[in-house]
Amino acid sequence: MSETQLQVIILAAGKGTRMYSSKPKVLHELAGKPLVQHVVDCAKALNAESIALVYGHGGEEVKKTLSDEALTWCEQREQLGTGHAVQQAVDNINDSADVLILYGDVPLLRKETLEELMQAKGRQSIALLTANLDDPAGYGRIVRNSENDATAESQLDWPIERIVEEKDASGLIKQIKEINSGVMVVNGDKLKHWLSKIGNDNAQAEYYLTDLIELAVKEGETVKSYIVPDNKEIEGINNKIQLAELEREYQKRQAVKLMTKGMTLRDPHRFDLRGELEIGQDVVIDINVIIEGHCKIGNNVTIGANTVLKNVTVGDNVEILENCILEQSTVADGCFIGPFARLRPETQLDENAKVGNFVEIKKSHIAKGSKVNHLSYIGDTEMGENVNIGAGTITCNYDGAHKHITKIGDNAFIGSNTALVAPIEIGNGATIGAGSTLNRNAEEDKLTFSRAPQKVINGWKRPKKNKA
Ligand code: UD1
Ligand code: CA
Repeated sequence: MSETQLQVIILAAGKGTRMYSSKPKVLHELAGKPLVQHVVDCAKALNAESIALVYGHGGEEVKKTLSDEALTWCEQREQLGTGHAVQQAVDNINDSADVLILYGDVPLLRKETLEELMQAKGRQSIALLTANLDDPAGYGRIVRNSENDATAESQLDWPIERIVEEKDASGLIKQIKEINSGVMVVNGDKLKHWLSKIGNDNAQAEYYLTDLIELAVKEGETVKSYIVPDNKEIEGINNKIQLAELEREYQKRQAVKLMTKGMTLRDPHRFDLRGELEIGQDVVIDINVIIEGHCKIGNNVTIGANTVLKNVTVGDNVEILENCILEQSTVADGCFIGPFARLRPETQLDENAKVGNFVEIKKSHIAKGSKVNHLSYIGDTEMGENVNIGAGTITCNYDGAHKHITKIGDNAFIGSNTALVAPIEIGNGATIGAGSTLNRNAEEDKLTFSRAPQKVINGWKRPKKNKA
């Protein structure tokens, strides 16, 4: 790779009318991340010296959402074409830099492809990323000249002469299947020079960035090109159908990567990763699992259908059954969770803890071997080891104004349907009788309950319906 400085300009001023949304197009999300963020991340992966974002509609919202100090923001007040858009960003371009132009609504472009493009440019002034499409309709066509190069092995080696936009194309040119992806890399000084010369005398009365090519050729330059290996990489998003298509494509790529590392996906078409996932060995994921943020899963872990993990760390030998939601939680080795369990933020399960069906746990620490198996709410709780929480136990952590802590000692046994009114402490080895409501601490190793004594009412009769 050359030592030349790389500066990136991302065009993102388009309206996105066909999204039918109040949100700027480039903020719509693919795999949980704004479209334009994918492009920014790709530019960063190339170690770009600077990244300029040309924005128009909804600029403030885009700035706020990305909130990235590393970006230079360039407003394009009126969308007068791609050439005009690039013009808004040239002030910060150095003459000696390589300038890479990307689109904010083309999220699947890979760093490796751009490296190939820059390689193809070599010492020349300009190189284009092109593609061969069966259906090239709508795209600018790459016009190559057969006369200047008799040594060419194929048409794709013929020198590039110009780009003709679909709307300006004759019937013959429309038959060309090699298209302009819009992505190009140009020397900084040449870019500024050629941009100053482009006009808007064309079918759309726009300043076409693509006019650079003809200008370059006229000045005796050789325009280099690289053909994108996978056409999906250059697809832009203009509507919700394309958004959904590229989402699936992106998910497929991620699924393939994970399966290559040994993860079992029951159905890769029904797996969504919206963030990053680190995996150990023998991880098995059933259908419709969604993984968000940064998640880490250890060895020998099974995750049941319809489960959602967001910013979760899972140890080894863990089984998570169907329909669970885990967020910002840590699950140690040997835990068993679900079905229908919810771990809310700041939950920590130590080794071999069990959380069963219809249990919600929030901001709590459950130590080794403790079990909360059925229909419970545990919030703001510090729970010791080998505790057994009976079905329907509730920690009443909220008094309407403040949250309070519940402490439950090692080996405590909480009978079913108990309400623990916090702040409260249950001593080690304490047993709480079922159906109790406790608002004072329970002593170690004692049986405590607050249930009303059972009575029998003699002579009572169940009411009967009057006959009409
Ligand atoms: C452009 C190319 C065409 C290429 C196609 C690939 C030109 C003249 N044409 O066509 O050769 O095949 O992309 O998709 O360059 N944008 C702005 N400001 C503007 C106009 C556009 O920021 O004033 C941005 C858009 O937000 C978008 C990108 O530039 O991200 C491309 O704009 P779009 O209107 O899609 O370009 P096309 O006319 O389709
Ligand atoms: Ca387009």
